[in-house]
Formats: sequence, C-alpha cells, structure tokens
Amino acid sequence: MMKRVIRAVALLFACIGFARQAEAQEMTLAMLSSKYNLPQGQETYNRACGVCHDNGVMNAPKVCNVADWQPRMAQGMQALINHAIDGINTMPAKGGMESLTLAQCSDAVAYMMSLCDITVAKK
Ligand code: HEC
Repeated sequence: MMKRVIRAVALLFACIGFARQAEAQEMTLAMLSSKYNLPQGQETYNRACGVCHDNGVMNAPKVCNVADWQPRMAQGMQALINHAIDGINTMPAKGGMESLTLAQCSDAVAYMMSLCDITVAKK
C-alpha cells in the first residue's frame, strides 16, 4: 500500500517535471510578444513575406500549417530567423527585400510563429 502511494507520488512529480521542462523549451506567445515587435512584424510580413507564405508559393511553409512547420520548429527561433535573413534553398534572403533590417526580419518571423498554435523551440 505504502509502496503504491510512493510510486504514485513519484509518477506525479515526474509528470510535473516533464511539463515544466516542455514549457521551458518552447516560446510562448507571451515570450514572443515581449521579445519581438509583433505589430511591426505583421507590417513586414504583409509587405515582404505573405506573397509566398500565405499560400505556400514555391513550396514555402504556409503560415498556420502545422505539417509544414513541425519539422522546422525544432531548430529553434534563432535558426529560423537566420534562415529568413540569409535565405535557405529557394527562400530568398530577406524574402528578396534587401532593404529590410535584421529586426524587421526577426519580427516578421515572430509574427508568423505567433499566428497559430505552433510551438517553436526556445533556442
Ligand atoms: C519568394 C517566396 C518567399 C518569400 C517572399 C519569403 N519566403 Fe520564406 N520561405 C520560402 C520558401 C520556398 C521556404 C522553404 C525553403 C526550404 O527550406 O526549402 C521558406 C522558408 C522560410 C522559413 C523557414 C526556414 C527554416 O529554417 O526552415 C522562414 C522562417 C521564412 N521562410 C521566413 C520568411 C520571412 C520572414 C519572409 C519575409 C521577410 C519570407 N520568408 C519571405 C519562400 C519565401
């Protein structure tokens, strides 16, 4: 009886620990909006990114499409931002708009991540 209680308590703590860990490794919406300027990101997105990412032009990962984003999210926020700035495969650097600042690109990525219930690793 006592053993079973101990086991249940240990399991409970393991679950709490696991949930905490998952929480700590992902960017929440609150974290995105405190670290990035989401309204500015929306403005940049509409101007420079939506043309491909709204509908998956050139196989761009569509905003809010979990299947498109899931494999990319594990790289973490900084890698996604770097790829948006430097370009990756058929994605042009800064979406082809050279005049964008690094902050504008970062905010645009954060805006894309903030739109839906897609979790991005915090690294
Ligand atoms: C001309 C079309 C086009 C435009 C404009 C564009 N993208 Fe992309 N984007 C792509 C394509 C295609 C990919 C997929 C590249 C690949 O991984 O093969 C991509 C991938 C990405 C990724 C995922 C990178 C990764 O590491 O998986 C991010 C983030 C991104 N774009 C952000 C942006 C932002 C921010 C803008 C605007 C500043 C933008 N894109 C504009 C086509 C575009």
